[in-house]
Parts: sequence; structure tokens; C-alpha cells
Amino acid sequence: MATVSTTAKAGSIDAIQQRLNERIEDLLASLPEIDGLSADERRGMIARYSAVLEGNFIYWMTGAYLAAKSEEAHAIILENLHEEVRDSHPGMMRRFALAAGAAPTDTDAAAVYEGLTNVRLFVGRLQAVPIIVMEAFFEGWIQRFMAYLEELARRQGSTEWEYTQVHGVCDVTHTRELYRALEREQDMANGAAESEDLLEGVDLLETLIRKIVAG
Ligand SMILES: [Fe+2]
Repeated sequence: MATVSTTAKAGSIDAIQQRLNERIEDLLASLPEIDGLSADERRGMIARYSAVLEGNFIYWMTGAYLAAKSEEAHAIILENLHEEVRDSHPGMMRRFALAAGAAPTDTDAAAVYEGLTNVRLFVGRLQAVPIIVMEAFFEGWIQRFMAYLEELARRQGSTEWEYTQVHGVCDVTHTRELYRALEREQDMANGAAESEDLLEGVDLLETLIRKIVAG
């Protein structure tokens, strides 16, 4: 991971975006074939995903907002938070899990506890640039993961698609804006971010996602 981080630190926004896209592709390629999963494995994956996302996404975005210093980043993150709360994305997430018979249990929460705690503590350090890099990685990932998540739920007998349809849209403008916010935050950090590991949040979130998938 150290080599990867150094590359990104020295690189431009384009280099970071390219690096994140590669990480997303690797992660997608590592997903198990759905045909080979048992009903219990499908349920577990939806439940662990839900245990992480329902109560934490807004927290992560709020951390990004508190850490950011630029007007552009604040405006972009605020718009995202507004949508999350106004349209009750946590409510959507819960309906999705319930309809698939996959509401998280204590065991599901325990499986992701350590990985989730590490991401929470990282966000709590309020380092704007690495948090926004993590958000950009997450945004890219979730869009690509939704078709897989939806298929898991379909095979569990669900017909509730609001969550996956809302989050599976590739929003080119939003993604571009997020990278613009990142660029502004890097400018404002004015070299201060040099000592930060830009991909620390990405590493932690990827570990958590792998735990969601594998249990
Ligand atoms: Fe959302």
C-alpha cells in the first residue's frame, strides 16, 4: 500500500482518479459469482452492507463537510447531505434490506465492527483531502456495485429497487464536481497535505468493503 500512496501523493487529480478507478475495478473483479452463493451468503452480504451504510454514510459526509475548508467543497458536500436527509436514504436502505429478508443481526454488525470502527476513527481525524479521496472512491464504487447488490436481493425474492436505482446512476457532473472539490482542498492545504497519506481512507474503506463481501 505504501507504494500506491506515494504514487498518488505525487500525482495530479487525474492520477488520483485513475488510481481510484483501478482500485474499484480490482474490487469489482474480486466479487464472488452470484450463482455460487447460497441464500444465507446472499442474505449476509446484503445485511452487512446495510449494517455499514444505513447509519454511517451521512456521518462520513458530515465529517467531510466539517473537515473541508473551501467554498466549493462545502457546496458540493452540502448538496449531497441535503439529498440524503430530504429523501431519507437511510430509510430507503432499511426498506431494501427488509424486503430482501436481510435486516442486519448482531452477528452481521459484529462482522463489520472492526473495519467500520477504523473508518470512523479515520473520518474523526477530519483531514479534508484524504476524506474527500475516500468519498470519491466510495461514490465510484457504489455506482458499480448496485447491479450486483440488486441481483442478490432479487434472488432473495425482493422487488424493492428504490435504493439500488437511486444509487446506481452514474452522475458524471457530480463525480467531476467531487474531484474539483478535491483539487480546491489540495490547493488550500497548500502542501500541508503532503504529510498525509492520501489513500489511507481508501485503504480502510476497501478493507471494510471486503469484509462486507466475505463476512
Ligand atoms: Fe445515499
